[in-house]
Amino acid sequence: MSLSKIPYIRWAKEHAQDGEFSLAMSAVPPVDWSDLDLDPRDLALSEFSAYGDTAVREGIAAEWGWGRDRVFLGSSATHTHFCFAASLLEPGDRVLYERPGYLPLLDALSVLKVEATPFERRFEDAYALPQDELQRAVRAQGAKLVLLTDLHNPSGVRLAEAERRFLATLCEETGVEVIVDEMYRPFLDPDPGPACALHDGIVTIGGFNKVMGLSQIRIGWGISTPERIERARRILDATTIHNSCLTDQVARAAWRVRERLLERARTIAHHGWAVLGTWLESSPLEVVQPAGGLVCFPRVPAELFPTGAALAEAALAVGVNVTPGHFFGEPGHVRFGCGIPPEQLATALSRLSEVLRA
Ligand SMILES: Cc1ncc(COP(=O)(O)O)c(C=O)c1O
Repeated sequence: MSLSKIPYIRWAKEHAQDGEFSLAMSAVPPVDWSDLDLDPRDLALSEFSAYGDTAVREGIAAEWGWGRDRVFLGSSATHTHFCFAASLLEPGDRVLYERPGYLPLLDALSVLKVEATPFERRFEDAYALPQDELQRAVRAQGAKLVLLTDLHNPSGVRLAEAERRFLATLCEETGVEVIVDEMYRPFLDPDPGPACALHDGIVTIGGFNKVMGLSQIRIGWGISTPERIERARRILDATTIHNSCLTDQVARAAWRVRERLLERARTIAHHGWAVLGTWLESSPLEVVQPAGGLVCFPRVPAELFPTGAALAEAALAVGVNVTPGHFFGEPGHVRFGCGIPPEQLATALSRLSEVLRA
């Protein structure tokens, strides 16, 4: 049995909230019932939907002009990823994944005994997609699947339109499939829409977690072709049967006020970055400017701290929690989140200034 070798989720569950100020979060703060115009006393305990709430599936699909047969709902984005990947891959199949990246997606695949190889998104190239390298690796390895995030976690960089078109060409020319995790994409305004619109071999994953402030209801979605969705449902049937009916109802209410929740998320990101971006300009940390969202991934000068983990430890000693870069596969960095209220963020950052000065 292959057990998880990637420690990030365990750390995120047990330690991301440590410290007086947590800059370890990538999601907006949670919403409340009143934000959803929902009275919890109205929740039914016995609703049933075989493959997720119809109104939610229709809403997700209609936003981009499709029908609900193109939307899969799973028990989180993580589970949705797994259902699509597990229904495609056989033991020994080759998977390519980005590094730095959100490695838990890969971790889930380890139980399938696939062969996973990283390709580098480099700080020096502003984390651009290494198109030639990726294309060569797909061909040389006969890879069946490529895993990507857009916005990129941890850097917050977006895929340029030309990079998204490259992915479509890659699918067309090599037969590889691409799963793009687009949990953070709706932070962009205007939103360029899901990459799966560009080719049937691209699956887009989204969720209610990062932008809608509902990380605890555990629901995610995939947009793809009806055939791939049918395949992924074979894994869903076997791994969770169906989602919680309470989740279905909260998701339905949230979708009704989606525009409002999006506006809230973009406003939080805008105010947070105004503080964090300004602070970074006068700090010794070098950063690639994120396209949106709440996180960025600065490089820590080795003469100040040998690793991102060493800076994270010193920051925690003064009450500020940042995520060490090794969790994303790049130990010389730290991930900063800016989703806490701007006054608190400013206090946290002034403490970090002292740590960096010392
Ligand atoms: C890129 C990405 N995908 C998925 C997830 C997890 O989503 P969920 O909680 O819906 O499984 C995260 C959480 O950090 C993430 O950053």
